[in-house]
Amino acid sequence: MEKIVTSNLKLGIIAGGQLGKMLIQEANKWDISCYILDEDTNCPAGSIASVVVKGNHLDFKSVYEFGKMVDIVTYELENINIDALITLQSEGVKVVPDPQILKLIQDKGLQKEFYKKNNIPTSAYQVFNTKEGIINAISFNKLSFPFVQKLRKGGYDGKGVAVINCTNDIVNILEGASIVEYKVEISKEIAVITARNEKGEVRCFPTVEMVFNSKANLVEKLICPSKIDNDQSEKATNIAIQIIEQLGMVGLLAVEFFIDVNGEILVNEVAPRPHNSGHHTIESVITSQFEQHLRAILNLPLGSTQLKLPAVMINLLGESGYDGPVLYEGLTESMAIEGVKIHLYGKKITKPNRKMGHVTVVSLSLDDAIEKAEKVKQLIKVKSWKKS
Ligand SMILES: Nc1ncnc2c1ncn2[C@@H]1O[C@H](COP(=O)(O)OP(=O)(O)O)[C@@H](O)[C@H]1O
Ligand SMILES: [Mg+2]
Repeated sequence: MEKIVTSNLKLGIIAGGQLGKMLIQEANKWDISCYILDEDTNCPAGSIASVVVKGNHLDFKSVYEFGKMVDIVTYELENINIDALITLQSEGVKVVPDPQILKLIQDKGLQKEFYKKNNIPTSAYQVFNTKEGIINAISFNKLSFPFVQKLRKGGYDGKGVAVINCTNDIVNILEGASIVEYKVEISKEIAVITARNEKGEVRCFPTVEMVFNSKANLVEKLICPSKIDNDQSEKATNIAIQIIEQLGMVGLLAVEFFIDVNGEILVNEVAPRPHNSGHHTIESVITSQFEQHLRAILNLPLGSTQLKLPAVMINLLGESGYDGPVLYEGLTESMAIEGVKIHLYGKKITKPNRKMGHVTVVSLSLDDAIEKAEKVKQLIKVKSWKKS
């Protein structure tokens, strides 16, 4: 009897944010039973999971006991109690991607060391244990402005990253073990999502271009196909393949790159899970990133990553000035625009810059999709009656 794509299979997903929710939406098509572990039972995935287990992803006991309830454990965020995952694995529970790989990726210091060891192009860096260490290095001229400091662990959506341009910014240096990179003069940020199954089959999604909101350090708009030239796109794709193969990883790996002003391609960071830069694949690629993640971790044949239509994705972020029960404006007007697909994550409370949903616009022409996405951006506002 096949257990893989029926309700006999219990898939455990650590955390129930929007990525977990969209993963369950795909898993439901194959009738897989999805269990989630989240402290907040009202989390985005909570309303559609088969079973919601209340617990903290950083707590050994919560993660361990959750893993014992299911056939396979996967995750939608990096900040997880690794010891619990390793113990589960040693006791025969399938954990994918492998916890040893997560251990490397969840620490930006170990990630950088991996790139350096394997000759993968990335910006030069130094490791510091404390904020004081960084301040000392500045005063002894061992570190010069501008630079970017990143906490080794626990950062996401720009939290845990500080751009330090001059002496005045020293107050913004974060406390804790971190890496410091020189500030790249970025011309473009791109991403390639790649997937590998146990058989070693590898497939990559088309390269996307990410446009950032410099204040929030969040992706504001994503364009696919990217407008970079084919050579550069091919180079980035080959680096993504090199990384997933050298890691020997099974699952989905999102690789973020910088293209600097000289056209050089540098790896920024990777994430071993579905990623914000792949949301458009739901509508615009034959296989979505979420389906591909399932195919990879269940050792099924990987799906086609052929682009069906050009697409633009925008994140729906909480407007600044509002903090409370969410109220959306402009949804109906946006839906009247052809090719506009709205995704609301179901978060009950909005906060400034919180990711509350996204919109993908598909069109036969990329420029038309860009224009329509700009319109949607003006129309949809995520507010609350409660001001912050
Ligand atoms: N070395 C760097 N030089 C210039 N900008 C950077 C550098 N590192 C990060 N950034 C900017 O900060 C953003 C967030 O950094 P990143 O390491 O990707 O953290 P996060 O885990 O929050 O995504 C990047 O997408 C980029 O815009
Ligand atoms: Mg990033």
